[in-house]
Amino acid sequence: MTSEPKSPLFVCHGCGAVVDPSRAFPFACPGARAGDDIDHVLVAPADPADFDAGGEDDPFLRYRGWLAPYRLARSIGLSDGAWQDIVGELDDRLKSLDDRGFRRTPFARQPALAAALGLPGGLWIKDETRNVSGSHKARHLMGVMTYLRVVEIGRLRLGEDLRKRRLAIASCGNAALAAAVIARAADWPLDVFIPPDAERSVVGRLRDLGAAVVVCERRSGETGDPCVRAARRAVSAGAIPFGVQGPDNGLAVEGARTLAFEMAETLAAEKVELETLYVLVGGGALARALVQGFSLAAAAGLIAAPPRVIAVQTEGCAPLARAWKKLGGVALDVAARHRSRFMRPWESAPRSLAHGILDDETYDWFEIVKAMKTSGGDAVVADEAAIEQAFVLAREHTDIAVSATGAAGLAGALTAPARGVAAAVLSGVAR
Ligand SMILES: Cc1ncc(COP(=O)(O)O)c(C=O)c1O
Repeated sequence: MTSEPKSPLFVCHGCGAVVDPSRAFPFACPGARAGDDIDHVLVAPADPADFDAGGEDDPFLRYRGWLAPYRLARSIGLSDGAWQDIVGELDDRLKSLDDRGFRRTPFARQPALAAALGLPGGLWIKDETRNVSGSHKARHLMGVMTYLRVVEIGRLRLGEDLRKRRLAIASCGNAALAAAVIARAADWPLDVFIPPDAERSVVGRLRDLGAAVVVCERRSGETGDPCVRAARRAVSAGAIPFGVQGPDNGLAVEGARTLAFEMAETLAAEKVELETLYVLVGGGALARALVQGFSLAAAAGLIAAPPRVIAVQTEGCAPLARAWKKLGGVALDVAARHRSRFMRPWESAPRSLAHGILDDETYDWFEIVKAMKTSGGDAVVADEAAIEQAFVLAREHTDIAVSATGAAGLAGALTAPARGVAAAVLSGVAR
C-alpha cells in the first residue's frame, strides 16, 4: 500500500473553511451561517498519486489510499492492518446481517438493453442491486462508519462519549435500509426519520435491524422535506448525521466514489472509452460521487477523460434541471455564493413511479453542475412514460432485479440518446 499517507484536511468548497478530521468532525461546514446563501460542503481532496489498487475485492480495501478515513487512520499512527481489521470486522457483521459484505459489483455490456433503448454505441451497466442492502447507498454510509471507527479505535479526544451519540438519517427507502444495516453491523443506535407513506416492508426491515423509526408529517404550505428538517434538529441536539447528503456530512459522498473507481478499472482493462454517463439524481450524492470518482480516475491516468454527464430527473421533481437552466453562463464561484438563486426546494409535493428520487432539493447539486459544464453534459427531465418504459426495458432485457426507481436513469437515454459508448448504474433492488 502507499507509504506515509498524508492527513486529510477537509475544505469547504463554498467558504474555504478547513477542518482537520482528527480534531473536529468533518460533518456540516463550521463556517455556515443561517441565511448566508453560500453552498457549504466539506470535501477532502484526494491525491491521484495515491491510487494503488491492490488485489482485494472489497472496495474499502482496494481503494483505501483514496479514502479520507484510511488516510486519517495512518496519519494518527494506526497501521494498515488496523484498517483491514476495521473493514474486516464490519464486513463479517454485514455478512451475517445481509448475507454479503462489500465486493466489487458487476459492470458489463448489455447489448440487448442498448438496442432496446436505441444506443448504437453500446451500453454498460453497473449492477448495484447486488451491493450491501441492495443499493449503492451502503457505500456512502460505510465511508462515514469507517471514519467513526477510526476515531474510536485511534482513541482521539474527539471520540470521547461518541457512542452516546445516536446516528440520524432522513429517508424512507434505500438510504434508510443501508443506514440500518451498517449501523447494526457497528452496534450503533440509529434514528430514521420517515414520511407517513413509507413502504411497510421497508419500515418492517428497519425495525428488524433495530432502528428507531420516527414518522414526520408534511404540513401544508411548508416547502422542504420535513424528514430532513427533523433529522437536522436531531443533529443539532447531538446526533451524528448518518445520511447521504454532503452538506450535512462531508464524509457522506466519498465512499460511493468507489463505484466510479470500479467502473474506471473495468473500462481501462477492456480498453473502452466511455462517452456518456446517465445518472439518476435525487439528493445528488450518487451523481456527485460518480463525477468526482471519474475525475480522480482520469487524473490518475486510469481513463483518458471523465465521461459526459447526463443528470436525469423526473417531471414530478426536477430542482437540479431547474438550477442548470438558471445557471446559463453564470460563473460557478458566483453560483456557490448565491445558492438560493439556483437551488431551492421544489414547491409542489413530488410524485413519480421513481418515488425513491423525489428529494425536494438536490443537496449535492454544485459538483454535478460543475461536472456537467466541464464535460459538456446536460440535465434532462424524463416524463413518466419514459420512466415507466425504462423500467419495463431494464426488466425485459437484463436479469437485474431492479426497482422502478433504480431503472429511472435509463429514461435519460430515451430522452437524450447518446452516440458513443454509454453507461448507467442500476441500483435499488425491487422489493
Ligand atoms: C436506487 C437509487 N438510485 C439512485 C438514487 C439517487 O441518488 P441520490 O439521492 O444520491 O441522487 C437513489 C436515491 O434514493 C436510489 O434509491
